[in-house]
Amino acid sequence: MNNFFASCPRGMEAALSKELHEAGCRGLVPYRGGVDFEAEDEALFKVILGSRLASRVFLRLAERHVQDAKHLYKKFLDFDWTEVFDVEQTFKITTLFDLVTKEAFGNAMYVSQNLKDAVVDVFRAKYNVRPDVDKEDADVSIYLRLDQGDPRGYSAQILLDLVGAPLSRRGYRRSVGEAPLKENLAAAIVGATDWNNTETFIDGMCGSGTMLIEAIMKSANVCPQLLRVSEYLAGRSLAYDFLDHAWFTSHASREEAFNKFAQSEVERSLKALQNIEKDKFYGYDIDDRMVEVTRQALVRLGIPDGRVHLECKNATTLTAPTPTGVLVCNPPYGERMGDVDQLRGLYHELGENFKANFKGWRAFVFTGNLELRKSIALQTSARIPFQNGKIECRLLRYELF
Ligand SMILES: C[S@@+](CC[C@H](N)C(=O)[O-])C[C@H]1O[C@@H](n2cnc3c(N)ncnc32)[C@H](O)[C@@H]1O
Repeated sequence: MNNFFASCPRGMEAALSKELHEAGCRGLVPYRGGVDFEAEDEALFKVILGSRLASRVFLRLAERHVQDAKHLYKKFLDFDWTEVFDVEQTFKITTLFDLVTKEAFGNAMYVSQNLKDAVVDVFRAKYNVRPDVDKEDADVSIYLRLDQGDPRGYSAQILLDLVGAPLSRRGYRRSVGEAPLKENLAAAIVGATDWNNTETFIDGMCGSGTMLIEAIMKSANVCPQLLRVSEYLAGRSLAYDFLDHAWFTSHASREEAFNKFAQSEVERSLKALQNIEKDKFYGYDIDDRMVEVTRQALVRLGIPDGRVHLECKNATTLTAPTPTGVLVCNPPYGERMGDVDQLRGLYHELGENFKANFKGWRAFVFTGNLELRKSIALQTSARIPFQNGKIECRLLRYELF
């Protein structure tokens, strides 16, 4: 059983913990921006291929107690880095602080450099050669997590990034709108609506289609990594960094087990996509280019034409196609697009249309502008906090009677 850390946007830790538990992981400890967990290979593969919420997954390699950056260098000279990667592989180091450790250690680059010196010196001592650093596209990404420790010093944990490009990059989006949601955040929003997977689901302002597509994939239990893993199985890409890591490649049975699992996930998902119900998913946007972007993403995923209703339409004029369902909208909120004064009118009209045309439904507005929320003249039944990058957001829930 190995120790891992799965990261996610802040506020999603509890939901991610639940997902990890369902995948068979143990020892779950939520932490800021993620969850520590233990897993055997089978559960780990389930997390990497099946998590809708994780951004990245890391293998915990070592922990030392350190006083400062120089001490960090010394402490990691006795760690055998040559077991982690080969001298021909490139590497990079990223330091993660919390507020207290940032104050104590100061400059992240300086701290990373000290750890890099330890790595390089261990390789040199053993082989007389050193691996190169590549800050853009390293074969091996090492994260140093510094936390407040105990009287022995600060806790310095070494994490090995197993996935490379974040898991949120599912691959169904190529061109995106002006303010697309990350796929794992969109999945978390869909999860927080308590949509039961069988009701009608509408995204009234679908943009590049992220929430709509995450809802479709969830309801059909489609592997969120379908496109990425298909590319890997076809021999066109490595898909995840760990597929080239020593801990993985040194066990042929691991590689075999992963490939078998990946193959079965792809086959199962491709079948599931063919069975997506008609007249259940609706995506609208006022910008016809965004409707086309969403349509292309559905094609990329292999969703049969005509299964999802897409239309260029104003969300303030929509009507409900069924007596009940879930309607989500992620309107512009003035941070990245739109002008706040104009947006007041849009939010107001949106609320008025909820009242007039969506009786019996639950409506949700995801916004990063809490001032604009007041323009919706409806009582919220919940205001669920989310972090979207640096923007603090809310998912507002309205019960429409
Ligand atoms: C913040 S973006 C949505 C991003 C989307 N959630 C995604 O992940 O790509 C807002 C979208 O609302 C659309 N929009 C703005 N006003 C609208 C309206 N009255 N009716 C429908 N869509 C509208 C914009 O064209 C834009 O695509």
